[in-house]
Amino acid sequence: MVSGGGGTGAGGRRLGAVTAEEFVLAATEPGAVPFVPEITLRMAADPFGLWERTEVEWAGREWPAGGIADIASGRATALPPPFWAFPWAGGQGLARYVLDNPGTVAGRAVLDMASGSGLVAIAAAKAGAARVTATDIDPLALSAVRVNAAANHVAVTVRSRDVRAGGGGGEAPEVVLVADAFYERDLAEQTLALLRRAEDGGARVMLADPGRAFLPTSELTAIAEYEIPVVAALENADSKRVTVYGLRC
Ligand SMILES: C[S@@+](CC[C@H](N)C(=O)[O-])C[C@H]1O[C@@H](n2cnc3c(N)ncnc32)[C@H](O)[C@@H]1O
Repeated sequence: MVSGGGGTGAGGRRLGAVTAEEFVLAATEPGAVPFVPEITLRMAADPFGLWERTEVEWAGREWPAGGIADIASGRATALPPPFWAFPWAGGQGLARYVLDNPGTVAGRAVLDMASGSGLVAIAAAKAGAARVTATDIDPLALSAVRVNAAANHVAVTVRSRDVRAGGGGGEAPEVVLVADAFYERDLAEQTLALLRRAEDGGARVMLADPGRAFLPTSELTAIAEYEIPVVAALENADSKRVTVYGLRC
């Protein structure tokens, strides 16, 4: 039911002793998404513990002695944080909007870029999209999307694509969705450029964001707003105000 892509096998890429899929299953537990309880995701309780576990158990490397302080200062390198193990504020908002407004995706080919856990892609499939493709740069995210889509009994095609390399993924999507991808300058600029191209090509474009540092608000028009429960250890808050946007003409 769930198809793969991007050069990873059925269990996802293998860096160390376990495949990506084995790691996703071992390091997370299933649970209902707080703002989208009709969707179940594999989630982790402790983001920083999972980041260390990813580096040690999946990549087979040592966690730096100074931990995240060493990574942040550039004294040590590590895999990116395990974004895929959490339903981000933007993802929860966009998934809620799509499920409550199924006409936005029903019967259409949908692309969810920077998909993370696959939450938005799964919501689109549940809302009746004809085909859904989820893309991400992180091989663990690709495996998480496969696992999560299967657990929610929906079909999602998974592809490895780097937004910064212009990789939209999906064959001429009619709807392009992206949630919580405006936290880094390059990623934000390339994501906006891809969304503009998709809209110029005739696709409907929607994004959701809690106001991250590089959100191009002057280019956006608000469609809906939600107050969304978030993981306090990640956000330093219990909830975030999320806006669902379209592109301003
Ligand atoms: C904050 S998470 C949001 C995940 C999901 N959309 C959600 O809202 O729950 C950001 C996601 O962007 C992905 N990402 C980061 N850089 C990327 C890039 N250059 N190309 C594609 N995806 C990227 C990360 O791997 C991560 O899954």
